[in-house]
Amino acid sequence: MGIFDSFRRDKKTEPAVSREEIEIEETHDEQAGSLKEEEDQETPEIEEPVIENDDENAQQIKPIKHYEDKLPVEHVIGMTKIIAIINQKGGVGKSTTAINLAAALGDMGKQVLLVDLDPQGNATSGLGIEKKQLDCCIYDVLLNDLDITQAIIPDVYKGLDLVPATINLAGAEVELVSEMARESRLRDAVGSLRGKYDYVFIDCPPSLGLLTVNALVAADKLIIPIQTEFYALEGVTKLLESMKRVKSRLNPSLEIFGILLTMYDGRTTLSRQVAADVRNYFGSQVFETIIPRTVKLSEAPSYGMPITQYDPSGKGAAAYVELAKEVVKRG
Ligand SMILES: Nc1ncnc2c1ncn2[C@@H]1O[C@H](COP(=O)(O)OP(=O)(O)OP(=O)(O)O)[C@@H](O)[C@H]1O
Ligand SMILES: [Mg+2]
Repeated sequence: MGIFDSFRRDKKTEPAVSREEIEIEETHDEQAGSLKEEEDQETPEIEEPVIENDDENAQQIKPIKHYEDKLPVEHVIGMTKIIAIINQKGGVGKSTTAINLAAALGDMGKQVLLVDLDPQGNATSGLGIEKKQLDCCIYDVLLNDLDITQAIIPDVYKGLDLVPATINLAGAEVELVSEMARESRLRDAVGSLRGKYDYVFIDCPPSLGLLTVNALVAADKLIIPIQTEFYALEGVTKLLESMKRVKSRLNPSLEIFGILLTMYDGRTTLSRQVAADVRNYFGSQVFETIIPRTVKLSEAPSYGMPITQYDPSGKGAAAYVELAKEVVKRG
């Protein structure tokens, strides 16, 4: 059992905000402190106190259901939008956004599928799915020709289905290299689900390898989370170049759906300055909704809950509900 799992089981333990036990190479950027303004370094964290969930709210490990057991969909599905949540920079809020935006849309009555394309499997565990219970994951879809419906875990939250990732996926980057149609495996799989979901989100790993290229080829649109920190835009040019290359050769209709400012702390000049810079650079592509930095958002995954369930009246839930409305409005 991993550290994460024991934390989730024993709710009396401080919620785990640490990474999975899985060791894979990450591309977290070193944030050089030397450029930081004095006041930002000294700004104390005044997050809400950690409140332990009571027994009734304690998250149980969810049973693994099969697609055949999916609850009936109660509305007519229109055009499916496939949206990759992408930034090769690590720790910018991709998985947090994937889980909470998907859940907020589910709460609004949308049918949503979240595809976890990161070997860390943060979106999988963050939705309360214990990875060692799984006998297949997105890896099998990409490399073993498994029908994607066989990998779907239905109704992990209201209106929300999940294609999970396990550590097996770590081998996919290398194994895909020698495969035919290696860049379009995900598109072929996810494309077969058009008409079954309102939204399909793909939670990307922090790299620009073949998994991410698969996401760029599969997606109609991109959401790029940007942390309101120093070097916020670092790497974004490289991401946009990758997007351009994929767009010109493999996916001509690929577009940016929105840039999302995350972990915003309005008390610091730094956060405000970075938000202003990003808005200057990307203009109206930036979502009006800004995701605030709040400890509740970092606690929720250790209970396997989206923020709308873990802390429905908090500012994190409010922000993701606003974002969901903006996503629907953007069409
Ligand atoms: N708005 C927020 N407020 C506070 N903590 C946050 C917020 N968003 C994300 N976090 C925390 O920051 C860390 C990184 O977030 P997350 O895992 O969503 O980033 P990521 O881009 O998916 O990372 P990776 O590149 O490793 O996949 C996590 O511990 C998460 O709980
Ligand atoms: Mg992630």
